[in-house]
Amino acid sequence: MKKFKQPFIIILIAGLFACTQQPQQQAETVEQTVLSDSLVETYKNQSRQIIQATFKALSSNLMQAMSYGGVPYALEFCNVEALPITDSVAAHFGAEISRLALKNRNPENYPDGQDEALLKHFQQVFDKGLAVGDTLIVINSNELAYYAPIILAEQCLACHGTVGGEITVGHYQAIQRFYPEDKAVGFGTGDLRGFWRIGYTFAAN
Ligand code: HEC
Repeated sequence: MKKFKQPFIIILIAGLFACTQQPQQQAETVEQTVLSDSLVETYKNQSRQIIQATFKALSSNLMQAMSYGGVPYALEFCNVEALPITDSVAAHFGAEISRLALKNRNPENYPDGQDEALLKHFQQVFDKGLAVGDTLIVINSNELAYYAPIILAEQCLACHGTVGGEITVGHYQAIQRFYPEDKAVGFGTGDLRGFWRIGYTFAAN
């Protein structure tokens, strides 16, 4: 497990959602106020590496499952393995890794509290046609979180596209057997599917 230097976090972001500016701009202000630029870069780079490793683990397993048994088998595989794969990469890096979505498939991936508000802001920004970038935010005096958008690609449509279109009705029935409250369909290529969230927690001083 990698060790992270405890940053000196002195200011909370209680006011983050109060004003009307874009969240990204606010987040950057917070970063500059609280953490040195080099520390922000360190955490951003570390988080990008973690995402790359998780994405690689998830997608190579998914591709194998797809070629072995098509969408129905891959679904079953994702249902059992997606969260354990993410957790094993998380344990390796000593960070918490989640994939969050407002239109979620697994109920465990719905953002709670502050994350829900943040994702709603980001979605509004995206819907206005503005770019949503990655950002590092101070959650509280012991916790940082990094967020990066997940944009839908063509190879995702078989399970997140249109029902009756890219997703056959039979496959969607299979999806609903595992996820009766599924909301993660109707996406097109280039849509904002959700967010990576990489959380870092530090022992209290
Ligand atoms: C074989 C079908 C399949 C394909 C292809 C697929 N997904 Fe998923 N996706 C799933 C399943 C099943 C889950 C729920 C996993 C779980 O239980 O944690 C999921 C969950 C997610 C989540 C977590 C949030 C949520 O809604 O639960 C994101 C984000 C996501 N997928 C993005 C993608 C992206 C981006 C691609 C393409 C690179 C993709 N998926 C391709 C089936 C698929």
